[in-house]
Parts: sequence; structure tokens; C-alpha cells
Amino acid sequence: MSIQIPDDPGLSNKVAIVAGGGAADPNGIGNGRAASILLANAGAKVLVVDNELALAQRTVELINQAGGTAEAHSGDLTKPAECKRMVEAAVDRWGRLDFLDNNIGISSKGTVVDESQETWQRMMQVNVEVMFLTAKHAIPAMIKTAGGGAIVNISSISALRPRGLTIYTTTKAAVIGLTQAMAVDHGKDGIRVNCVAPGPVYTPMVYHRGNGMEPSARDARRKASVLGLEGTGWDIGHAVRFLMSDHARYITGQVLVVDGGVTLQAPERESRTEEGSH
Ligand SMILES: NC(=O)c1ccc[n+]([C@@H]2O[C@H](COP(=O)([O-])OP(=O)(O)OC[C@H]3O[C@@H](n4cnc5c(N)ncnc54)[C@H](O)[C@@H]3O)[C@@H](O)[C@H]2O)c1
Repeated sequence: MSIQIPDDPGLSNKVAIVAGGGAADPNGIGNGRAASILLANAGAKVLVVDNELALAQRTVELINQAGGTAEAHSGDLTKPAECKRMVEAAVDRWGRLDFLDNNIGISSKGTVVDESQETWQRMMQVNVEVMFLTAKHAIPAMIKTAGGGAIVNISSISALRPRGLTIYTTTKAAVIGLTQAMAVDHGKDGIRVNCVAPGPVYTPMVYHRGNGMEPSARDARRKASVLGLEGTGWDIGHAVRFLMSDHARYITGQVLVVDGGVTLQAPERESRTEEGSH
């Protein structure tokens, strides 16, 4: 008796939006840029959205060079009208919407005593409200144009093991709650919703902040991993691509930790600040 081994349909004929698909370095690989390139490489058409158009355009250039299909779209996704416009752009261009990678996130460091109410409100807006707004517009479009879909929200291991980034931790924990609630609400619509929780990843957002990153800080990040590795945007992009694919058809409401085992180890006190950049 022979068995039917599931084939790999790839992502051909699928349409994806990557929110925050730029990266602040022409040759740098951020989490959203990596996901955009890998989704396109698997056959999806990708709308690369960023509030800095040039950053999205560079991602599209890299996709086109590799033979993929993508379009750059500029929009500040803290604005509801921009989220609506983004979804309409993908559907107008390619007739459907299957995937949303909610990658936008900003960081801040400090305790509740140090941090201001303005920072709290801004962080909640950019890191949580944006995901609420993009999904609000994307989900009806997925149902209508594709009969279902998949959403990946980017959280962080800071949500699971807080250290010194209190507001960031709170926002990324909220992302997990939002993901699980959306997974329950929209399973009946054929929409899967999952989180990726990256550990320390060497992206332009990290190395362009302040005066960049000292080699010793990167060493501390490697030491924090049981594998002795520092993550790259590609590690996160591969996880997103997997969760979008049919290989993940039975996975929803989950948090996929991509951290080289960082959360398995107790943090060393002296490396807390360095490693704690995410
Ligand atoms: N880099 C890490 O170590 C790390 C670790 C854990 C989690 N994360 C999370 O991964 C995600 C991406 O991180 P990254 O390091 O690749 O960041 P990144 O800054 O390189 O990429 C995010 C992109 O989003 C864009 N963006 C920001 N605000 C926007 C807005 N309002 N509207 C439209 N676009 C906007 C930025 O211009 C940027 O191009 C974030 O959610 C971050 O919190 C990163």
C-alpha cells in the first residue's frame, strides 16, 4: 500500500504584505527585508511597506535581482487610513491577499520609574496598535479574495524573559495575546495567526542605533546562545516563511521562539545591558 507524501506547493500565486519590509542600510538584512526576499523567493508576490519608501524600494530591488516579484509601498502604519490603503494596494495590484507579516517594532530601554508616559503611548501605538490596524483591514480582504490566509506577528523573547526593556516587554507580550485572540477569532475563516519571537538579531535597527555595536556586545550576544551564535534577519525570515506555508497548516496561535536557545540560559548579570537590546 502506498502513502501520499504531501508535496511542497511553495507560495506561487500567493500575495503577501510585509509591514516594515525596509531596512536602514542598503545592504543590511533586517527581519522584514529577509522575510520579503524569502517569501518572494518561494513564489509569492510581495508588497513591501515602509514609512521610508527608499528602504522598501531597496528591498524590492534585491527581490527583483533574484527574479522575484514585489512592489514598494510607502505608508506610516500608525495611521488607520494608511493601513486601509496598503491592503487596497496589494489587492488592486495582484487581485488577492494571502499573507501579512506584521514586522514593525521599535525599542526603548528603562523601568516604569525611568520611562515617560509619552514613550509608553508611542511604544504601545507603534508595536501593538499598528498590528491591530493592519490586521483589521487585511483579514476581511484575505477572506474575500483568498478564502483564508496567514498572519505572522513579530514579538520578541523580551516578552518571555524581561530584562531592562519594560515597555518593550509589555508591548511584545501584548502582541502574543493579540495573536492568540486573533487565531481563535479567525480560525473559522481559514486564517492562521502565529508569532515569531526573535532573540538578539543583528539587524540595521540594532547596529545603527546610537554609536553602533561594539564587538564585545556582539560577543555577549553569542555567549547568551547555547549555540554560540548571533541571529540574523534570515533566521527570522525563514521562520516567517515556514509559518506562512502549507507546512504550517495545523499551526495557529503559537509563539515560535527563534533565539539560538538564549531563553534557556540564565542571563549573566554583566551582559544584561548588551544582550538586552531585544
Ligand atoms: N533585531 C532584533 O534583535 C530583534 C529582536 C527581537 C524582536 N525584533 C523585532 O523584529 C521586528 C523588526 O526588527 P528589525 O530589527 O528588523 O527592525 P528594522 O527597524 O530594521 O525594520 C523595521 C522597519 O519598519 C519600518 N517602520 C517603523 N515604523 C513604521 C511605521 N510607523 N510605518 C511603516 N513602517 C515603519 C522602519 O522604517 C524599518 O524599515 C521588530 O518588531 C522588532 O521589535 C527584533
